[in-house]
Amino acid sequence: MTTMQTQTIRSVDRPDAAVPEGRGLDPRSQAAEVRREEPGAVRPVPAIAPIDLGPVHVATPVVLSPMAGVTNWPFRVLCESYGPDGLYVAEMITARALVGRNPKAFRLCRFAPGERVRSLQLYGVNPAIVEQAAQMVVDGHMADHVDLNFGCPVPKVTRRGGGSAMPWKLDLFRDLVSRVVGVCRPAGIPVTAKIRVGIDHDHETFLDAGRIAQDAGCAAVTLHARTTAEYYGGHSDWERIAQLVDELDIPVIGNGDIWGAQDALEMVRETHCAGVAIGRGCQGRPWLFSDIKHAFAGDDTRLDPDLGQVSQIIMRHARMLVEFFDGDERMAVHDMRKHIAWYLKGFPVGGSTRKAFMECEGLDDMQRELNRLDPELRLPERLHDAPRGRVRYAKKVHLPYGWLDSRSTTHEQRETLFGDDPMDAGY
Ligand SMILES: Cc1cc2nc3c(=O)[nH]c(=O)nc-3n(C[C@H](O)[C@H](O)[C@H](O)COP(=O)(O)O)c2cc1C
Repeated sequence: MTTMQTQTIRSVDRPDAAVPEGRGLDPRSQAAEVRREEPGAVRPVPAIAPIDLGPVHVATPVVLSPMAGVTNWPFRVLCESYGPDGLYVAEMITARALVGRNPKAFRLCRFAPGERVRSLQLYGVNPAIVEQAAQMVVDGHMADHVDLNFGCPVPKVTRRGGGSAMPWKLDLFRDLVSRVVGVCRPAGIPVTAKIRVGIDHDHETFLDAGRIAQDAGCAAVTLHARTTAEYYGGHSDWERIAQLVDELDIPVIGNGDIWGAQDALEMVRETHCAGVAIGRGCQGRPWLFSDIKHAFAGDDTRLDPDLGQVSQIIMRHARMLVEFFDGDERMAVHDMRKHIAWYLKGFPVGGSTRKAFMECEGLDDMQRELNRLDPELRLPERLHDAPRGRVRYAKKVHLPYGWLDSRSTTHEQRETLFGDDPMDAGY
């Protein structure tokens, strides 16, 4: 969205690819090239304050938005190392799978020892099942924060009335949120709701959903300012975030199309949201959290790693993924393929090199391919903070039969939907 004017102000010895993990772009030592926005490029910093979600203090109001297949603990640890006082949410966990003690669901609930706040997101259609899942989280001391997913647009989810389809049914939405808050709040676990603008512009839900979530006791609401029909296309409508901020007393976290620190500042300035949530913008760029932390503190320092430093981050990420997959190096390296595509995005690296990464089967293969890259390459300036990740519109919104006819569910509708509540509802 914004083209960042940059200027290299400090240069350090670039660690070569064989340097042990942790030396490249170390967020603590700042052993990285940094760029600063040119004088005048940074607008006045709006009043940005910490957010308290019940007992959970978020000193820098920036959230890693949950992303299925992405925000597992290795990626969260990487992001958190660049912005230690934000909130880093795990990818969505299907309540039914958790209640059914599905091993994959349990893997997604794992946290690294160093994670400051253990933040889980639950998804489900049946309020009783999501309540049971929340009870498991409470009883098992599994998390410090629970987010509820009402934003998922994928057909597999919305055709069952879940994700972004659910706020249309006010009774179901209220029931689900109230039950989860009822279980979590006495245990001191704040609950937040993540919503979209609505199903489409003729069926907007965000104002009702925000009010209901607030009345039910949610500690904050995150608004991804698109409709289900918009999926990830176009630009999110930040005016809707401003509207929700005006409507609610609890913090509103704005989400959608933050690609760089300047976007984060702009969103806060334009909407007065209490915080920002970052999804695709940090794919392959975990250091974005450092940029935003600095920006929110009124500091114009921005990290600008060269490919040698990015390679070291890639290896660190991959090694943690091996641990995540219980030592299965092949699974980790396969999972890294999408991350590597994101890490390399914009770097002048040829198609055959990218293809070679897609064929790696182990860490040694990956390291060998990384060693072949020119470590001094940098992202062209025009691509700093450029959009990345999914961008398409939905072809069609899939909903349960007759879903839009009224804003409440019948007994029969509930019976049908709940019988169909899936075990695995990936994005
Ligand atoms: C690959 C991918 C997976 C996602 N998975 C989830 C999820 O599990 N839960 C959720 O609430 N949102 C999910 N989202 C939506 C993001 O959290 C975020 O709301 C959306 O990408 C808009 O923010 P952005 O413009 O910063 O990307 C996902 C998005 C992507 C691209």
